[in-house]
Amino acid sequence: MKGVILAGGLGKRLRPLTLVTNKHLLPVYDRPMIYYPIECLLNAGIDEILIVTGGEHAGDFLKLLKNGKDLGVRHLEYAYQEGEGGIADALKLAEEFADGGKVCVILGDNLIEGNIRKAVGDFFTQKAGAKVLLKEVEDPERFGVVRMEGNRVVEIVEKPADPPSNLAVTGIYFYDQDVFGICQTLKPSGRGELEITDVNNAYLQRGDLTYEVLEGWWTDAGTFESLHRASCWVAEGGANHLDMMGRASRPATVKY
Ligand code: DAU
Repeated sequence: MKGVILAGGLGKRLRPLTLVTNKHLLPVYDRPMIYYPIECLLNAGIDEILIVTGGEHAGDFLKLLKNGKDLGVRHLEYAYQEGEGGIADALKLAEEFADGGKVCVILGDNLIEGNIRKAVGDFFTQKAGAKVLLKEVEDPERFGVVRMEGNRVVEIVEKPADPPSNLAVTGIYFYDQDVFGICQTLKPSGRGELEITDVNNAYLQRGDLTYEVLEGWWTDAGTFESLHRASCWVAEGGANHLDMMGRASRPATVKY
């Protein structure tokens, strides 16, 4: 399975930091943010990766990652998203890279403690459709949130004022090749973006969406609060991380 990291957008919630660099190049503890989704894919055995980025600082990804070999990426491609049309808009750019196969998509500002290898294996054997990874959170109104009936997901609501549960849809998704057709049918949401939640609801309506609950910690890093939390959790250890040469290493433990 191939992997797609979505690292476009303007990172407005992290201004002024993101006026001079791309959000995904900002440090999370001792590494650039983009290292963590790369590591997440590599740890799951996915080493053919497309990074979709955009904005004025897109060239800096090349300076940092080059062809990905130092990090252990077997094949690294880049795509450029014009504007900030949303997550599903960025995903459209992965169609040729996917080449009719299944993809694992991860948002460039998502970090996990554990390993998604099992979910990758499960989706590999899933006949068709999509899979999302869920995680219990304290602030569900910031995320896509599932409405459950028993152990069945019946709806996903994006940033609900009145969350139907505290299970957030993390930024790790699995799709079959139909995802690109679905993206073409989307209309911009109230915030002017093509929403990944609309993609997931389309699969849900077909009865083709499975889910798993992620083990270990998960966080995004797109706000000052979550960026700080991500840095603290990484610094406290609990996961192996790639050093500059791509070797797995455990960062020094720092007490906060
Ligand atoms: O982190 C999980 C959450 O991510 C999900 O629960 C939500 O359903 C999903 O909509 C998303 O919410 P955010 O509001 O946090 O997404 P944000 O706009 O911060 O974008 C997350 C990443 O997606 C960003 O780091 C890069 C990528 N992205 C985003 C936009 C808007 C792009 O590549 N292009 C874009 O145009």
